[in-house]
Amino acid sequence: VPQEARIGPFRAGDLVAPDGCAVDRRLFVEDSVYRLEQERIFARCWLYVGHESELQGNGAFITTTMGEDPVIVVRDLAGRLRAFLNSCSHRGAKVCRADKGVTKTFRCPYHSWTFSTEGQLISVPRQSSVYGEGFDRSLLGLREVPHVDTIGGMIFACWDPAAPPLRDYLGDMTFYLDLMLTRMEGGTEAIGGVHKWTIDVNWKIPSENFAGDHYHVPSTHGAGVEMGYRSPLTNNGYCIQTGNGHSIGSERGGAQQGKAVQTGYEDFMADMRAQLVARYGEAASAFTPIGVGTLFPNFSFLDSARFRSFRVWHPRGVDKIEVYSWCIVDKAMPAELKAAVRKQYSLAFGPGGIFEQDDGDIWQSVQDALRGHVGRQGRFNYQMGLGREAPTSQLYGPPFPGSCSDILMTEANQRAFYRHYARLMTDKEA
Ligand code: FES
Ligand code: FE
Repeated sequence: VPQEARIGPFRAGDLVAPDGCAVDRRLFVEDSVYRLEQERIFARCWLYVGHESELQGNGAFITTTMGEDPVIVVRDLAGRLRAFLNSCSHRGAKVCRADKGVTKTFRCPYHSWTFSTEGQLISVPRQSSVYGEGFDRSLLGLREVPHVDTIGGMIFACWDPAAPPLRDYLGDMTFYLDLMLTRMEGGTEAIGGVHKWTIDVNWKIPSENFAGDHYHVPSTHGAGVEMGYRSPLTNNGYCIQTGNGHSIGSERGGAQQGKAVQTGYEDFMADMRAQLVARYGEAASAFTPIGVGTLFPNFSFLDSARFRSFRVWHPRGVDKIEVYSWCIVDKAMPAELKAAVRKQYSLAFGPGGIFEQDDGDIWQSVQDALRGHVGRQGRFNYQMGLGREAPTSQLYGPPFPGSCSDILMTEANQRAFYRHYARLMTDKEA
């Protein structure tokens, strides 16, 4: 990133150090930066909008947001996945106010213009008497998101007509997603609906945390270790950057669960590990479960020894997010195991989960400390583990792609996140 390029009113070189080791505090509090992120990050990146299992059957829909833009994701009456701006072409009201459902049409509650699941305006009350001739319904459909695609049950959408295909955008991350999501015949499903809650924090703080901040675990989550939920963290693991700001990280073979809780998932995972080793070689055992990861910009996953969760950190202003969180299971898992996994997810990382509460409290304290005149000055530090990155295949052999650090406690993933962030935020000026 050229030092003179601009991020909003600021010089890029002042906001993100070229190696990603230092990030200016203003990135988390400045409205001008936040507005630019809506344009250059959220209107251009592929964003996770839901799971295919939430859209069973034609006419099934969910509502979410892409950045701050509200969208409807629908399986149209012909069975094709589409996404539309959830804003009426008449005078802007949200045409759909439900979180999910099944429908043949979307009728706007303001004046009742009605749209098909393909986005066409199909009915206008009193059309001929109030609009007369020359009113062309075909020009007034819902604004459609140009790209929608799926991978392993995950649905992504992208506003940028010129965006690369989803698989190119994800790059080497597709390998690790495959490893995580297609390990059982039938793939994955989201169970128990979506948990939604807000946290007063800038969206990048949770994104970079889930990119692989293992260093916080013994401190932030010390209570969970003390009560025997999980064993103390070692530095034995990996942090892998797969390009475009995406990354994963884990203790080798996943965080070791404490003895206090046994769910049956442990045996299932041991079995899964054996199957994946047969498919990918011995190194695959290190990636089962895969750990945490962030797909740039704001989708994260947690594939742990007890459960799996997907989450999106939706930006809601510079200092607020709305979290959407799902419990994800393998479809072919026995029903009792699914129920046990869901319970473990709620206990640890649901909105009231002990680990989720730990994180949310700390993140809010970060944002609180940035509000004043002095608190927004200076930089955050990301120097940990600098210079230890090497090709993943050097450590794990082929086919494991990306760039890897051979230790768990490093900020290599965060550095990759902010370097990519700076590239996107400046590339119109570069
Ligand atoms: Fe939707 Fe008027 S704003 S019908
Ligand atoms: Fe945490």
